[in-house]
Amino acid sequence: MATEFKRIGILTSGGDAPGMNAAIRSVVRTAIARGVEVMGIYRGYRGLIEGDIKPLDMRSVSNIMNHGGTMLYSDRCPEFKTEAGMNAAIANCRRFGIDGIVAIGGDGTFRGATDLTEHGIPCVALPGTIDNDITSTDYSIGFDTAVNTTIEMVDRLRDTCESHARCNVVEVMGRDAGDIALQTAIAVGASAVAIKEIAFDEEAVIVDLKKSRESGKRNFIIMVAEGAGDGLGERLTKTVEERTGIETRFARLAHVVRGGSPTLRDRLLGSKVGAYAVERLLAGESNLVICERKGDITSMDIGEALILDRMYKDKLKDGDLEKFSKETVAWMRDFCQRKFEKFKKLYDLANEISR
Ligand code: ADP
Ligand code: F6P
Repeated sequence: MATEFKRIGILTSGGDAPGMNAAIRSVVRTAIARGVEVMGIYRGYRGLIEGDIKPLDMRSVSNIMNHGGTMLYSDRCPEFKTEAGMNAAIANCRRFGIDGIVAIGGDGTFRGATDLTEHGIPCVALPGTIDNDITSTDYSIGFDTAVNTTIEMVDRLRDTCESHARCNVVEVMGRDAGDIALQTAIAVGASAVAIKEIAFDEEAVIVDLKKSRESGKRNFIIMVAEGAGDGLGERLTKTVEERTGIETRFARLAHVVRGGSPTLRDRLLGSKVGAYAVERLLAGESNLVICERKGDITSMDIGEALILDRMYKDKLKDGDLEKFSKETVAWMRDFCQRKFEKFKKLYDLANEISR
């Protein structure tokens, strides 16, 4: 039974991601088209606690699709995890007449959204993070733009490495996920890639670099995901130069990859999941994360999605699986296995064609 929603809120939280504005625009336009008002909640959950909330109309979201970042700003707000923070947030939902919320962010944001739902404010979450570390979806908003930005940066580094017969070790963000580093490694023809998910064989990389150099190769790129280890990039830079004799430089791309105009894929993804989120909310559903799987838009209970995440990352806690049927657990295990097999295949491809 459709719930009588008069007004929904929207917020962006955690690390910003290119394409968040496309999602915001889609939520606003879809809601208004269905006769529902929209309130913009600025600076993530902090704005909800502080009442930094303003109405959005059709014109509020004009000319934002091509801009990276988020027009609603973002924040990391530990206070939201406290009872006082949650109480202030609920009070503001009542004060501003907010019947439900669309929250855009990563897994931390999802935890906040599920807490709000449990406190009587129906929430639907959208996967917005460049890390692409949300197990339940094939892609998160911002990942495609971040990889394309990284590719452009590393292509430039390759030019100068070719001129000077150098190696460049390049560290990229992604928190514990190696997706940005791995997909960039393939796309730029990197000689090696270090990620947290799979052990890095430094010795084999040194041997390969020497062989490639002897075969006349002049430029070398090694991609390092920040999650692969603190200081690994800098240490590898020194080791490669000492062990191979190839002059080696280090580049940390850091937050560069989080900005820039979103790609088509992120504009489409943001638009599709934004519209779908409003439809689910207005259909009376909540505590969902909207996912893209094999190009289709679907949804999953946030609690289940968070457990699936812990299963995929081998971080299950005692009792995590107790509330699920045997069939659901079997489905989750198969889903995680297939997802990792796909990831490992990409890793093996990167290594196979990198010499
Ligand atoms: P991301 O959403 O990208 O993972 P964070 O981990 O910073 O980024 O989470 C974003 C926000 O979500 C946090 O600043 C906090 O306000 C809220 N949050 C994170 N974890 C929780 C939690 N366990 N319970 C409630 N709220 C949380
Ligand atoms: O989660 C997105 C992300 O960019 C991670 O890749 C990175 O480790 C982190 O945020 C950086 O956080 P901050 O922007 O708070 O420095």
